[in-house]
Amino acid sequence: CGIVAYIGHQDAFPLIIKGLKRLEYRGYDSTGISVHDNGLKIFKKAGKVAELESSVEELTIKASVGIGHTRWATHGEPNDRNAHPHFSADKSLSIIHNGIIENYDTIKKELLSKGYTFQSDTDTEVLITFIEDIKKQNGGDLEQAVRSALHAIEGAYAIVILNEENPNQLIAARKGSPMVLGVGTDEYFIASDATPIIEYTNEVVYLKDREIAIVNREDFRITNIDDVEQTPYIQKVEMKLEELEKGGYEHFMLKEIFEQPNSIADSMRGRLDAANGTLTLGGIYEYSQALINARRIIVLACGTSWHSGLVAEYLFEEYCRIPVEVEYASEFRYRNPVIHEGDIVIAISQSGETADTLAAIELAKSKGAIILGIVNVVGSSISRVTHEGAYLHTGPEIGVASTKAFTGQLSVLTMIALSVAHKKGTITQTRYKELLVELARIPAKIKEVLDNNAVVEEIAERFKDAKNFIYLGRGYNFPVALEGALKLKEISYIHAEGYPAAEMKHGPIALIDEEMPVVFIATRDSSYDKVVSNIQEVKARKGVVIAVVTKGDALIPALADYIIEVPPCEEALMPLISVIPLQLLSYHIAVMRGCNVDQPRNLAKSVTVE
Ligand code: G6P
Repeated sequence: CGIVAYIGHQDAFPLIIKGLKRLEYRGYDSTGISVHDNGLKIFKKAGKVAELESSVEELTIKASVGIGHTRWATHGEPNDRNAHPHFSADKSLSIIHNGIIENYDTIKKELLSKGYTFQSDTDTEVLITFIEDIKKQNGGDLEQAVRSALHAIEGAYAIVILNEENPNQLIAARKGSPMVLGVGTDEYFIASDATPIIEYTNEVVYLKDREIAIVNREDFRITNIDDVEQTPYIQKVEMKLEELEKGGYEHFMLKEIFEQPNSIADSMRGRLDAANGTLTLGGIYEYSQALINARRIIVLACGTSWHSGLVAEYLFEEYCRIPVEVEYASEFRYRNPVIHEGDIVIAISQSGETADTLAAIELAKSKGAIILGIVNVVGSSISRVTHEGAYLHTGPEIGVASTKAFTGQLSVLTMIALSVAHKKGTITQTRYKELLVELARIPAKIKEVLDNNAVVEEIAERFKDAKNFIYLGRGYNFPVALEGALKLKEISYIHAEGYPAAEMKHGPIALIDEEMPVVFIATRDSSYDKVVSNIQEVKARKGVVIAVVTKGDALIPALADYIIEVPPCEEALMPLISVIPLQLLSYHIAVMRGCNVDQPRNLAKSVTVE
């Protein structure tokens, strides 16, 4: 979910609407705003921000303080009633909340027994009514009531509260869900991340867990949940406004796909110097020796980031000779994993906020593991709990389906692996240099693939009505097959499966008939001949083959029904290139099917609930 709040001299309603649009990638099941305009008012609606905006157009709202929320449903279906903000029972308080209150049921029962009633099924309404109840008992001190309530609840939250009695104050708090306070001149902004804030101010304070911000019109202060005053650390954010706009592209996803030659170059800038054969990863310094000596590496991630972790497994095992286990953070954290003091954990996350990844990191850290973060969002929760790490530097990714963050992750993981291999001596100097030179050529090669967009678009036209897809690859291209299938599922809602090409014969081959498109990632590498055999197996069963091949290949084009060419490239770096046509294929199919590419149904970009 995304939250935005404002207090100052500007018109709060349109400002919050605009901010919510910037945060819509975090969830878009429903939208709502509460303002103080001669008393507390709430406007909310199931659906996107634009729907709320058009439904209240007629009204003239005059407010300089307000809170807004865009929701990814957890408790209760995404209808108008369950949308945030919520009033407390007597409507003297309103709240927006991101997170989950785990013991809300117990608190609800207690409140019901006291005679309170509820309008929604949400844990949030329970929380604000609970706060109202405490406030009534303590003589009307809201700040103290918030503190007591937060002591009693279990779970994660980022909340902002508006008070009928005091239009000059916002109270905000967080634990486990991100929250940023923007500091302007006699105006303040609160949001889930800096994106709604940067057009007004670049000075921000990242709230820490268990901190409460009391924000007035002229000043603010921060205390912790135990009422100990905290000194706020004001820092500057460097994000630029253009990075948050579509810049002439029809969708953010397309813009981000086409940005990849630049975003990859950005991820290498200042780190890779191919001419002199050096790699410098400033963010991994103190623990670089521990990484070189590591007896094993555990990779923790979810979704697309987990796929880049799989590529890292191949890289670290091949070049650094370190065994790697790639784990879904959600499984790892609940299965009593074996972690030894000094184990190296690489946590990969675009947003840096994924709740499961964060919890898995905390678990590993508590058992003495060294945590290195591969994160895109600067200042995000994961970037702050890790010991060291490397940012992607690929700029904000807005499209819900990850594209440039995936290739950014691959680029950074490759640089780390090669640097370790070099220092460890598990790679020859010549090979090391060759790979660095190749790495530097990746942006230009991606550009070449993007120039082939029209070919991919034609293939999309032919298959846009398919009901199923299979994606197959071997070696470094196996994770790419998984990622290609995930991209298609996410944005076009076509069922797709990614598989190791050889594993196909143990099951998925039963699905193959003349209706089934099979995408092979079949570039020239050490498993090329094997993949050719797998293609023949599919053709023998009348499957339709779309193959991503290396330019100049003559054999596979003769076998496949459709081909997409990519430039030749080192096997270990090929995922950076071979994934590009798959991103484009899913994009075009989704557009042709009329799907909402940037905000696919049921998904959210930043999953801050487990
Ligand atoms: C969500 C997004 C995916 C993403 C995954 C992990 O499900 O929709 O695109 O891969 O979370 O997110 P992270 O920010 O941790 O990389």
